[in-house]
Amino acid sequence: MSKITVGVMFGGRTVEHQVSVITGLQVIENMDKSKYDPIPIFVTKEGDWYTGEELLDIKNYKDLGGLLSRAKKVFLPPIPSMGYLYFYPIKTGFFKKEAEYIKLDAIFPAFHGMHGEDGTMQGLFELANIPYVGCRVTGSAVGMDKIIMKDIFKANGLPTVNYTWFLRKEYESNKDKIVSDIENALKYPMFVKPANLGSSIGISKAHNKEELLSAIEVAIHYDRRIIVEEGLEDMVEINCSVLGSDDDLLASVCEQPVSWQEFLSFDDKYMRGNSKKGMKTAGMTATTRNVPAPIPEEKSAEIKNLAKEVFKVLDCSGVSRIDFMLRKGDMQVFVNEINTIPGSMAFYLWEYESIHFKELIDRLIQIALRIHKDHNKNMYVFDTELLLKASSGGTKNSTKR
Ligand SMILES: Nc1ncnc2c1ncn2[C@@H]1O[C@H](COP(=O)(O)OP(=O)(O)O)[C@@H](O)[C@H]1O
Ligand SMILES: [Mg+2]
Repeated sequence: MSKITVGVMFGGRTVEHQVSVITGLQVIENMDKSKYDPIPIFVTKEGDWYTGEELLDIKNYKDLGGLLSRAKKVFLPPIPSMGYLYFYPIKTGFFKKEAEYIKLDAIFPAFHGMHGEDGTMQGLFELANIPYVGCRVTGSAVGMDKIIMKDIFKANGLPTVNYTWFLRKEYESNKDKIVSDIENALKYPMFVKPANLGSSIGISKAHNKEELLSAIEVAIHYDRRIIVEEGLEDMVEINCSVLGSDDDLLASVCEQPVSWQEFLSFDDKYMRGNSKKGMKTAGMTATTRNVPAPIPEEKSAEIKNLAKEVFKVLDCSGVSRIDFMLRKGDMQVFVNEINTIPGSMAFYLWEYESIHFKELIDRLIQIALRIHKDHNKNMYVFDTELLLKASSGGTKNSTKR
């Protein structure tokens, strides 16, 4: 059997660019080379795409200019019949010597954050009709939007903390009204978050009106929509990863990420130092974790079931980590958020389940190939019916509603 060519994409136009390079190279390193032929695709911070052997060595990224001058610029046209990675510029005429494209059988996006995990890249893969790992457009986009995500949790009866939201525009035109609406709806302490960012950027905790105002000022720098949540005081965070698609789902062991005293800032996590006032935050890069989480067996079971439910209602596929908060007093569980691939492949949780990284990557690619086939089947069925109707009744009737 011939090998499956998998474009592994990393980098990208996001603050988590560097983390993504590391993830991408790890995915390539751990891919089963007897089955797959990985092609590195590095996306610069400006959004240019490159491929080439030299991208495989992390040391080369120290001299980015030099690296890019040796790598080859490529692009993916959003056209199914051209669903390959093309070298740029396209060579035309009789004298083209080099291969002009690499045929891709699948794509493994190893991005973190914006323009990769949020459905935009997934939209391009859909247009190009190439199988890809992880959630499709809807799951990816909804997973990045804390407001819509929580609305869907609520509509499906999944437990969330109380929350409310507003537009930056509304706040700027009537601060008093927005603040009093929030204070009427929620109790302090509150968490103020930009709707669309991850990695704790722009998130603050407010214990009173004064802190609420400054928290909002921070958040509106980052987004046009802001969510405010009731904060849980005495709680533990529990994460659980789900692998699969549709209703064929596996939930991992639960973990308790490192227990921060307050919580780490983005600077603390990524830049070390200079944490700005009002930007105290926490996030995905725990340095220590408890696996399995030290919670009663029935709570783990409840969380695992909820995790699968979250995955299903957001129509996710591949692997996602779902984060929960467990209130200590009454042991009530709340869903906090989902982190779609690969912000969280959470491979350490799957190791625990004896699904090692190499196998996880294999399963993810196989899921991608399967759902792609399924998806294309739907479209062809639809097409066939339309053509049948059109040929028996004429085009006039078939287009009539
Ligand atoms: N409602 C809340 N109550 C208590 N702690 C919270 C709440 N919301 C967020 N946090 C804390 O802030 C962290 C970051 O918030 P989260 O919504 O997960 O944002 P991000 O997408 O940046 O990870 C959480 O991991 C948790 O420690
Ligand atoms: Mg989080």
